[in-house]
Amino acid sequence: MTEQTTVTDDPARLDQDTLLRVENVSMDFPIRSRGLFSRTTGHVHAVNDVSLEIRSGEVLGLVGESGCGKTTLGRCIVGTNAPTGGSILYRKDTGDVVDLAAMSKKDRSAYQSEIRVVFQDPFTSLNPRMTILQIVGDPLKNFASLGRSEIEDRVAHMLQRVGLSPTHMHRYPHAFSGGERQRVNIARALVAEPRLVIADEAVSALDVSVRAQILNLLRDLQDEFNLTYLFISHDLSVVENICDRVAVMYLGKIVEIAETDDLYSAPRHPYTEALLAAVPKADPRLRGTGRRVRLSDEFPDPSNPPSGCFFHTRCSYADDDRCAHERPLLRTVAGVQQAACHYADELDLAGVGTEAGQVEP
Ligand SMILES: Nc1ncnc2c1ncn2[C@@H]1O[C@H](COP(=O)(O)OP(=O)(O)OP(=O)(O)O)[C@@H](O)[C@H]1O
Ligand code: SF4
Ligand SMILES: [Mg+2]
Repeated sequence: MTEQTTVTDDPARLDQDTLLRVENVSMDFPIRSRGLFSRTTGHVHAVNDVSLEIRSGEVLGLVGESGCGKTTLGRCIVGTNAPTGGSILYRKDTGDVVDLAAMSKKDRSAYQSEIRVVFQDPFTSLNPRMTILQIVGDPLKNFASLGRSEIEDRVAHMLQRVGLSPTHMHRYPHAFSGGERQRVNIARALVAEPRLVIADEAVSALDVSVRAQILNLLRDLQDEFNLTYLFISHDLSVVENICDRVAVMYLGKIVEIAETDDLYSAPRHPYTEALLAAVPKADPRLRGTGRRVRLSDEFPDPSNPPSGCFFHTRCSYADDDRCAHERPLLRTVAGVQQAACHYADELDLAGVGTEAGQVEP
């Protein structure tokens, strides 16, 4: 690793209990015109000046509608996207802090096994031409000291841990069900003993019964391997189940972040209230939320976000003056949660099982 990527002169930049801090991270994708002389006509601001911390040992949920930037932020953290701006401060197991965003690709590869991803789709994320041994053992190739039989031993152990038989390691993905393939995905993510796992819609494609099994497995493995998770999902009932804290994202920005119980029972941002209200009523725990709020279908264009508060074009509490012109900053509200709304202290929002008016200010 090069000297300039180690931030040892300012350890206070990262709290002791923080594993990773995303600091003012942005990710812009260029929009190009079609034709022979293609040129850049604008940018999609997929992630827009985001700051958040992932604490050691926690499950941090990241929620928001499709296209709000969840996957892009995850990809910035894991290194598949190089952010256009900002820092990604990471506490190594030695205690030193490094900025992953400032590293060269080569330096960054040293952290590949420490931060891993479990992807959404168990059907497309496994190469059909590779055996389970090759798939799960692939991340171990970075460890030059491991011989073939050691890799096989490690893969066998990992398969057992995720509830698959090691005797199946010479089979191909098509021989497995969706739930089993997601177990293979998890085995591949964990085989190199990562510290942070980014689960991007990891259970979204699974049947409800299989989903519960995989969630239980993720929880068991977290205890056993002392893992920290960033759990990306648009399913608020799953997130409520598994996450310690939740960050809510809208148009590339974090608009609220709080302990799960606080966020669900007393949201402080109108967008969070609307997301809770939009959860299908089949889930009994999430019934009775948000009488006042319904989200319109008009998701703004992330290449041309609204003025002022990005949410003002859909917010039922917006005023024409401040909300349309002044961008609210993420700030601490009621001592515990953080919300980016001018009226977060005054609004009386409905949460899970609480109608508006029941929440203590
Ligand atoms: N490689 C890319 N090139 C151009 N635009 C991109 C690229 N990747 C993502 N985007 C755009 O960035 C925005 C955020 O996308 P992203 O996939 O991060 O959202 P998401 O919250 O993960 O959505 P979903 O819930 O559907 O997975 C979208 O407008 C998307 O079209
Ligand atoms: S700042 Fe205004 S528009 Fe934005 S969420 Fe708050 S009330 Fe709604
Ligand atoms: Mg996504």
